[in-house]
Amino acid sequence: MSKSMPVQTVAVPLAERSYDVLIGRGLIGKLGATIGARFGAARCAVVSDETVAAHHLPAVLESLGDRVRGSVILPPGESTKCFAQLGALCDRLLDLGVERGDLVVALGGGVIGDLAGFASAILRRGVRFVQVPTSLLAQVDSSVGGKTGINTAHGKNLVGAFHQPHLVIADIDTLATLPQRQMRAGYAEVVKYGLLGDAAFFEQLEQGWQGIFGNDPSAIAAAVETCVAAKAAIVARDETEQGDRMLLNLGHTFGHALEAWAGYSDRLLHGEAVAIGMAQAFRFSETQSLIATGTAERVSRHLAAVGLPTHIADIPGADRPGVDTLLALMAQDKKVRQGQMSFILLRGIGASFISREVLPADIRKFLSHELAAGPRHRSAS
Ligand code: NAD
Ligand code: GLY
Repeated sequence: MSKSMPVQTVAVPLAERSYDVLIGRGLIGKLGATIGARFGAARCAVVSDETVAAHHLPAVLESLGDRVRGSVILPPGESTKCFAQLGALCDRLLDLGVERGDLVVALGGGVIGDLAGFASAILRRGVRFVQVPTSLLAQVDSSVGGKTGINTAHGKNLVGAFHQPHLVIADIDTLATLPQRQMRAGYAEVVKYGLLGDAAFFEQLEQGWQGIFGNDPSAIAAAVETCVAAKAAIVARDETEQGDRMLLNLGHTFGHALEAWAGYSDRLLHGEAVAIGMAQAFRFSETQSLIATGTAERVSRHLAAVGLPTHIADIPGADRPGVDTLLALMAQDKKVRQGQMSFILLRGIGASFISREVLPADIRKFLSHELAAGPRHRSAS
């Protein structure tokens, strides 16, 4: 496929908060023109992290030209999604003189998107922002849907706001510089869209995942478009997660607890935690006799084939959480209502549902069993 492949546009229809997601190649080079065509003379402040900035900031600044007020470059990694960095970012954006009519441009993965999006939600009580996602995870998931926020010692994303971007520009060429481990972590969220609601897509991934990891632009663009279209449809039905949107949290109740326990560090990336959490959601569904025996194994086999972890024992390091620690972290989940936890369970691949009827004793027994299980062999390195 040539660099001039057509740009795909997926609309996120949310009445006055509607916006487009543009997916294609070479889009960063046209960022200034795209923003000019849609937002006139609006000025921009670019937020990025050190790693992404080293690769992609010069092209972004060149394309934006005179409309740039300045840029704010933060340390990379999950620990940047915290109160201290949020405060520092807001102050820097105010130093740059960002006004309500301006655009904050979030150039980076989900960490930068979530943090810059949250800063945009609260700065001057709300400024517009544009997502320019540069990780696979951010292109297929986090840049769309308006969830913004930070982590606290109590858990993941517990402080934040719904604040929709005004535009999302997913330039798949940026993924050429993404390390393979990060590519795999993002792929966990790709698989999620198949597992939660699209069995045919999961089968397609089982057969053709090598294209995505071989940096085949057409395979990547097709996967990004499928995931974004699925997410846009769910967000349009349930913007603030009163119902269906919870399905997007498949694997996250277990995964977020593991991520918090691992200290939001490189030891366990968000997508890796989601991979373990999804495998666990399938295994738990099997213990509840909701799915045919062997379904959970099929899911784990695919995740392991690309090199993703599927068991707690796959997390590097010797220490393991206790059952009570995991249960306490899971109790902070945002889906908890009147103390009752909700789980996204499965009736099959592509058939997820929200369950509020899981017995605490069953979860305790399941986690004890999971913690006793040994590591699983992962195929890719
Ligand atoms: P990330 O932003 O930390 O990016 C991963 C790493 O890859 C970072 O070190 C970054 O510097 C680097 N990187 C990103 N793009 C690169 C590129 N093109 N070239 C080289 N390096 C690059 O993490 P992530 O996996 O993108 O996102 C995870 C975050 O997203 C988590 O905080 C998670 O909670 C959040 N999330 C949010 C939503 C949502 O709806 N808002 C959905 C899913 C996940
Ligand atoms: N990634 C979960 C959501 O956006 O709702």
